[in-house]
Amino acid sequence: MDADVSVIGLGRVGLPLALSFADRGLRVIGVDNDPERIAALADGRMPFKETGAQELLQRVLAAGTFTTSHVAADAARARDIVLTLGTPSFSHIEIDMRDIRSVLDDLLPVLEPGHGIVLRSTIAPGTTEFVAGYLSKHRGFAVGEDVFVTHAPERIAAGRFLEEIDTLPCIIGGVGERSAERTASLFSVFDAPIVQTTPVQAELAKIWTNILRYTQFALPNLLMMDCEQYGANVFEVIDLVNRDYPRGGMAAPGLTAGTCLRKDFAFSEEKSNAPGMLLGVSRVNESVPLFLVQGMARRLGSLNGRKIAVLGLAFKRDTDDERDSLAHKLIRLLERELADVAVHDPHVASPTTSFEEAVEAADAVVVATNHSEFSRPEALLAVTDRAGGDCLIVDPWNALGVGQVFAYASEVALLSAR
Ligand SMILES: NC(=O)c1ccc[n+]([C@@H]2O[C@H](COP(=O)([O-])OP(=O)(O)OC[C@H]3O[C@@H](n4cnc5c(N)ncnc54)[C@H](O)[C@@H]3O)[C@@H](O)[C@H]2O)c1
Repeated sequence: MDADVSVIGLGRVGLPLALSFADRGLRVIGVDNDPERIAALADGRMPFKETGAQELLQRVLAAGTFTTSHVAADAARARDIVLTLGTPSFSHIEIDMRDIRSVLDDLLPVLEPGHGIVLRSTIAPGTTEFVAGYLSKHRGFAVGEDVFVTHAPERIAAGRFLEEIDTLPCIIGGVGERSAERTASLFSVFDAPIVQTTPVQAELAKIWTNILRYTQFALPNLLMMDCEQYGANVFEVIDLVNRDYPRGGMAAPGLTAGTCLRKDFAFSEEKSNAPGMLLGVSRVNESVPLFLVQGMARRLGSLNGRKIAVLGLAFKRDTDDERDSLAHKLIRLLERELADVAVHDPHVASPTTSFEEAVEAADAVVVATNHSEFSRPEALLAVTDRAGGDCLIVDPWNALGVGQVFAYASEVALLSAR
């Protein structure tokens, strides 16, 4: 074995991890079957934005501690093999493990006693034991003695990887004590505290971290829709709930989505003891784009031929990550109403129009992502100036600071003149 650790799946989770291992002096092989990704990395180019990662990539390439391959079997040249492959959910309320299964099949013939496999992807409860069983069944390994299998879930937020890899507790669920010790030793190159547990508890801890957030955001989203029904202001109600109340803490509404939050609840729903409860949570978050479109139609009449500016395509503030963003769903729904949609996002790779062009003479301006740029006072000023007083401002995040989900630009101008 001529490397210390391999990372298979150089996506938003795997690539920063591989680079961070290499930066701590480990010899790292990064594996991905996307030739464009491998070519970009060989050229020293990060394929997506992650704070500090571009400089890190150049540093580890220069140091010679990070090499790449597009062949999964090459990963077996390292002692530890970390899987950071995507784990979407089927529409059948079931984890889609095809990438994991396919890589395991590539690795089976080349695994040797002494190898450690770390599942870093988010997985349904029971998956780590399945992987251990798969290796025993097909190669006869005694997991925990010959080879080692753990789940070490990723809970780092996009944009904060290089900081949080050293601070967030690193949860490790090992199949047998020796598996856990092996992965703990691998991750001890970082400063984060290590917490050992069982595989299924590590799996549950990760998915319930996300379920908690998904549910916490569904409550203000449901309240926002209820407020529309009662003619109430959701931001004022949330302030009443939270202000000086020691047991408050209601979050703010918004377009709640992204690859993780949108699908991880399904891994729990697979075998839920309260079937449908989390599906209900999902339905609330998924209803917000339709709620916004219907709210616009109620105020403006038919949206056919009306210019609607959508500000933001990313699912998350200040990132370039568009995967599973509800902004796309919002745009699809608006297009189904025959609206003329103009989109602006200062962060994403997809081409969009400039802010000024998007809001110019718009009948409605919708803030779909709460990017910091939209919270600068100049942004609201530009909307009211360029779009005119009849423009409907739709801002479930209150990013522009209007304090209403639906408000006419003329009302906003009056407010700021007071
Ligand atoms: N993105 C996040 O913020 C985040 C946070 C926590 C956990 N997770 C979990 O981490 C896992 C990975 O997520 P991600 O966002 O990095 O996914 P991603 O889609 O960005 O990355 C997966 C990578 O795997 C590669 N790949 C697919 N099949 C392959 C194969 N057979 N061989 C080699 N490479 C292959 C793809 O080309 C891609 O680059 C998922 O389980 C996800 O739920 C993601």
